[in-house]
Amino acid sequence: MKQHITRTLIFTGMMLAALAPSGLSAAEPEDVIKYRKNMMQAIGGHTSAAGAIVQGKVDYTPHLAEHARALQVLTKDIPALFPKDSDFGDTEAMDVVWTKRADFEKAAKTAKIRVAAFAKAVQSGNPQAITASFKDMGEACKGCHKDFRKEEK
Ligand code: HEC
Repeated sequence: MKQHITRTLIFTGMMLAALAPSGLSAAEPEDVIKYRKNMMQAIGGHTSAAGAIVQGKVDYTPHLAEHARALQVLTKDIPALFPKDSDFGDTEAMDVVWTKRADFEKAAKTAKIRVAAFAKAVQSGNPQAITASFKDMGEACKGCHKDFRKEEK
């Protein structure tokens, strides 16, 4: 009897362990899509905030380096936000993200390089370099969106 209870407890424990969310379990596609949209929104937020400073609309110049650093972190590996099986459902990502993967990765790399150049310009404090590199960075976002993202409905 005692042995039976022990076995039941072990079995129950195993079942609970199987049900518990594990960091290693395969994520649901809709959660991946939500996650990458939140990451892109964070990228968008820092870009817009930095833009307002660069254009002199607001006086938060000391924040500029922080926005640049956040963008470097957030754009470190954009392709990783687009794993296989996250190409359907509530997403504006076009099929070419997966079918023309090399081009997509190239666009991501270009953006990463431009973000780094912007961060460097911010460090230099040279206003012309900051304005020019910010514009280049924006072109990299737009370039990828033009080829790989559907128009917002
Ligand atoms: C390598 C390609 C690529 C680059 C570079 C890129 N994006 Fe995106 N972005 C996408 C794709 C694809 C989507 C659509 C994602 C989806 O709907 O699943 C997207 C979506 C977005 C969204 C909408 C998120 C939402 O909630 O639907 C914003 C905002 C955004 N990007 C901003 C930016 C900004 C700002 C930059 C530049 C600093 C940038 N992106 C660089 C590919 C890119």
